[in-house]
Amino acid sequence: MILRARYEQAASPARECGPGQIVADEKLCASASLAMLSGPTLASHRNQAQVSQYRPLDPALFHVHQNRPMSRTYNLAVLPGDGIGPEVMAEAIKVLNAVAAKNDIAFNYNHQLVGGAAIDAVGKALPAETIAACEASDAILFGSVGGPKWEKMPPNEQPERAALLPLRKHFGLFANLRPGICYPALTASSPVRADLVEGGFDVLCVRELTGGLYFGQPKSRTTLPDGDIEVIDTMVYKKSEIERIGHVAFKAAQLRNKHVTSVDKANVLTNSVLWRETMVEVAQQYPDVTLAHLYVDNAAMQLIKAPRSFDVMVTENLFGDILSDEMAMIAGSLGMLASASLGKVKGDGLYFGLFEPSGGTAPDIAGMGIANPIAQILSSALLLRFSLGLEEAAVAIENAVRQVIGDGLRTGDIFTGAPGTRKVNTTEMGDAILAALG
Ligand code: IPM
Ligand code: MG
Repeated sequence: MILRARYEQAASPARECGPGQIVADEKLCASASLAMLSGPTLASHRNQAQVSQYRPLDPALFHVHQNRPMSRTYNLAVLPGDGIGPEVMAEAIKVLNAVAAKNDIAFNYNHQLVGGAAIDAVGKALPAETIAACEASDAILFGSVGGPKWEKMPPNEQPERAALLPLRKHFGLFANLRPGICYPALTASSPVRADLVEGGFDVLCVRELTGGLYFGQPKSRTTLPDGDIEVIDTMVYKKSEIERIGHVAFKAAQLRNKHVTSVDKANVLTNSVLWRETMVEVAQQYPDVTLAHLYVDNAAMQLIKAPRSFDVMVTENLFGDILSDEMAMIAGSLGMLASASLGKVKGDGLYFGLFEPSGGTAPDIAGMGIANPIAQILSSALLLRFSLGLEEAAVAIENAVRQVIGDGLRTGDIFTGAPGTRKVNTTEMGDAILAALG
């Protein structure tokens, strides 16, 4: 049941909410939410996802890609990177191997250096060989890059700026989808008051990923004649860039609860005035979807106060970076937040994409074997869905994750000592997900 509510600006919630707004069936809630991240021209996925929203437990629904050749080998570029990247990547690969065995397909993993690991080995964060391997792949499975070891390097040579951002730009990965799912069984792990997250929630953050302050020119740092230092970052968007991310958000919303919250700072930024105008225009093509606008400061507040009032949230690059971390934390942990960065649709109607956990390298726990591998494992599920069209396998992984969470397994980041839960390490969590896959 979707509540049609009044949408108000500023001090009010993005959307009034009530118990009817949350999908009652937990399984439906989570599998549908991930199955519904459709993109602008992905008609077959859309239909499939649309169906799975309403009848997610019918196995016949997942046969959309049944004409796909069996025994196919898929080429994956695997870029574990730094910090906890290699540890959690190992668990995702275990899960992918199980998927391959069950589905009579094969993955050809092309492991490549990226980030600090590449700097240490070959002197630069994004070697040409790594780009070439990505170009030759069906998709990129990415770990994380960066860490204190490389923080003293010139900023433009550091792992984040010299590897991850160029990869996003090189492949035109403009649409970053981050499913913020708070499983009902995990509400105790949320730092937010229990009554605000009770029953769980499901927000899809659609973040524009190749524009805004991250990439706008000019960027500079100048020492002025008086000795002061002036720095410039430029926020640039073209209307066409806002339109294309808007379409992603509205298409996704059509397959979910049909509500888009566009986040901007239109009371201050020229960029945001165009953003808002454009979202209003795009919305006209989706009469079944309601649109609300929130200023980013208010959105940060509403996410904490009323996370269940959001369905799809669409925003520009920097705002999305910040709000998606907040969303993930309210849902339990950054260690649960998968992401899909999608670019162009390939000939087969699927996306080329880079799939990565949103949480970073966590240098404080790197090498200890205690990191949460779920974001990496769920990112590999998104890869199967968006880049390979293996919907059934993606849903199987998502269900396995939900099952182990329901069984009470918790890595340190989501462990609260609640009765019925058990603290596990990285490999134990990976093994449990593997076992749940059957
Ligand atoms: C993310 C990360 C990156 C970003 C960093 C590592 C450059 O925080 O994917 O959210 O800011 O986009
Ligand atoms: Mg971030």
